[in-house]
This record gives sequence, structure tokens and C-alpha cells, in this order.
Amino acid sequence: MRRPVIVGNWKMHKTSTEAEELAKALVNHLTDLTDDREVVLCPPFTGLKVVFEVIKSSPIKLGAQNLHWEKSGAFTGEISALMLKDVGCSYVIIGHSERRTYFCETNSTVNKKIFAALDQGLIPIVCVGETLEEREKNQTFEIIERQIREGLVGLTHSQALRLIIAYEPVWAIGTGKTATPEQANEVHTFIRYLLAKNFNETVASEIRIQYGGSVRPDNIKSLMSQKDIDGVLVGGASLDADSFTKIVKFKE
Ligand code: 13P
Repeated sequence: MRRPVIVGNWKMHKTSTEAEELAKALVNHLTDLTDDREVVLCPPFTGLKVVFEVIKSSPIKLGAQNLHWEKSGAFTGEISALMLKDVGCSYVIIGHSERRTYFCETNSTVNKKIFAALDQGLIPIVCVGETLEEREKNQTFEIIERQIREGLVGLTHSQALRLIIAYEPVWAIGTGKTATPEQANEVHTFIRYLLAKNFNETVASEIRIQYGGSVRPDNIKSLMSQKDIDGVLVGGASLDADSFTKIVKFKE
């Protein structure tokens, strides 16, 4: 059984005061959170510590949105896995399409970041997904195949088992255009096939694959009803306590 994992990616939103307020509201709304689902908040770096203080006695976990692959050194503006651990993170998003598009991240940097995260015991949430142009040219599977093969190269089976994969079609992010549950599930099933090919059947059946892209309270149920969708990575709707709570509390 794969435990659903619901992650809020706050992107570049919320000052530390606002982050604290949102985290407090979520802790209050989610006092009855059951352990059949996992909830993770990913504020910007400046909100990590304050959010950790608010959630540390609750079942809600903390994640970051990025990291650098080196342990330390002259890398102005970067943050290491050790620094994330130090402020209470247990997860880190790697290779989000916004990082790939605006900050030149590649499958190769994604790969280095995965190793750095695993080295510190952080759970990597590895993002993959095609652009609208690629989908229209029928290149979706080709792009995903490459992102998985190159992004996960060199991982042992036991390292691969610690990952979460997030399928986020770029055309569905922040556009209000959600992939249909069937469209999303088709790619999730394909990712499982790739995991079986690159690793083995156990890895393929145990890794959790999240969907991301305009997830809202009104579409969570249909997305989660798909057999290969094991959770969601939520952007815009995670910035509001009520809407994120509704998403977290979806009923099958
Ligand atoms: P939206 O939910 O705002 O479409 O963002 C999705 C996303 O990029 C989460 O990482």
C-alpha cells in the first residue's frame, strides 16, 4: 500500500510572519489528521525555521524547494542539504519545472541534487513533466523517459526506494488547466513501467508518484481515485489554509 503524500509548494510566497500564520492555521485545521496520509509544507528558505517551530509537535512535515549538491563551499546564494536538515526539513523538492526553465537546471544537476539529499537522509521529491509544445508534438513519453533515466542514473535500488516522483505537466502549472485524471494516470503508469525497467518491480510498485498542476479542492477526489496517483504537489491552492485543508482531507 502506498501512503498518499500531499505536499504544499509555497514557491516564492509568504514572508516569515505570513508563513508562521499559515502554518499555525494548518496545524489547527488538521488536528484530526489521520496517519493514512502524509502532509508536507515547503515554504521558501526564509520560512523554514519558523514553520518548523509551529509544526514540530504535529504530524505535518517540513520540506524545502531546492538545495545545492555540494556540502559547503564558495557557492554564493546556495543552501546545502545539511543546512536544510539543520532547520528541520525531511523532504526537498528537486528539479521543479520552474527551476529547469528559469534557473537552467538539467537532468544532470537533478541527479547530483538527489544524491546530496539522500546523503543527509532527506527524501527527494523529484519533478518531471513535459511542456505544452512537447505534448502537442507527441513527445511526452520521450521527455519523461529521459528525465527519469538521466535524473535517476546511478541510484541503487534501495536509494530509489526512498524517492517520491512528482509528475507535473508544465502546461498545467498555475494555468487552471488540470490534466484529466486519465491523462495524469497514463503518465504515472508509464513512469512505473520506466522504474521497473531501470530498477525492478519492487521499486516500481513501491515508489509514490504525485500529480501536480492546478490541483484544487474540487478536483482532488477524481485525481486520487486513479490507481497510479499516490498524492499531489500543490502550488496556488496550498497558500490558503482552507483550500489546502480541503485537499488534505479528501475522501476516497
Ligand atoms: P499550481 O498548483 O499553482 O498549478 O502549481 C503546481 C506546482 O508547480 C506545484 O509544485
